[in-house]
Amino acid sequence: MRIIRVKHYQEMSKEAAQIIAAQVTLKPNSVLGLATGSTPIGIYNNLIKYYKNDNLDFSSVKTVNLDEYCGLGIIDEQSYHYYMKENLFDYINVDVKKAHIPNGLAKCYESECKRYDHIVEGLGGIDLQLLGIGHNGHIGFNEPGSEFYKNTHLVELHAMTVKANSRFFESEAQTPKFAITLGMKAIMTAKTILLVVGDTSKINILEAALFGPITPEVPASLLQIHPNLIVVYVEE
Ligand code: F6R
Repeated sequence: MRIIRVKHYQEMSKEAAQIIAAQVTLKPNSVLGLATGSTPIGIYNNLIKYYKNDNLDFSSVKTVNLDEYCGLGIIDEQSYHYYMKENLFDYINVDVKKAHIPNGLAKCYESECKRYDHIVEGLGGIDLQLLGIGHNGHIGFNEPGSEFYKNTHLVELHAMTVKANSRFFESEAQTPKFAITLGMKAIMTAKTILLVVGDTSKINILEAALFGPITPEVPASLLQIHPNLIVVYVEE
């Protein structure tokens, strides 16, 4: 485990973006596992800058996103499809045909999960997986108590997650209660995992994840046994 402590969100965003840029430079056809939420926005802004100013080339990169809300599609502003377009894909030269996100509007979620696993397997797995962490220790939407080593699956979001996500919706009632998430299996088999924490409110859960017992109650604790985990976090 390599831990990089930084002073503030901007520094975390730059450090993490540089690691991703190095991955893309060394392996132009990398498979990048991408996350959404508040934390990665600064990282994506830096990647856009590297593309525009330094010709960082994403044309051969393939991407797989961690998750998507059930019931939301690309035209929904709160969907992760929309988020990725708005915060990254529209501003770099990634080939959108090679950018994968679970389909939140799928008629059958079971087949959608299988289809998504098939995509990830077909890409040969993930080279670098970017992860944020929830206040309850979730990664992707692998919530506390869910079994380790699951494949892509439908998940009922914990009350704490719904509450946290409600800041992007008009009300908690309108916040989706279900999502499709990549499982711990695909996450843990990524060659490199880059876990980023951009604010000090997550210090306790980060400490529990990295140094506490490895338990499904703190899904991120499984990261302790990953052979190539990089953590960039804002220290108090
Ligand atoms: C997002 C995701 C989530 C978030 C986590 C932290 O695709 O899978 O696990 O990374 O909820 O969210 P923020 O960054 O908004 O605090």
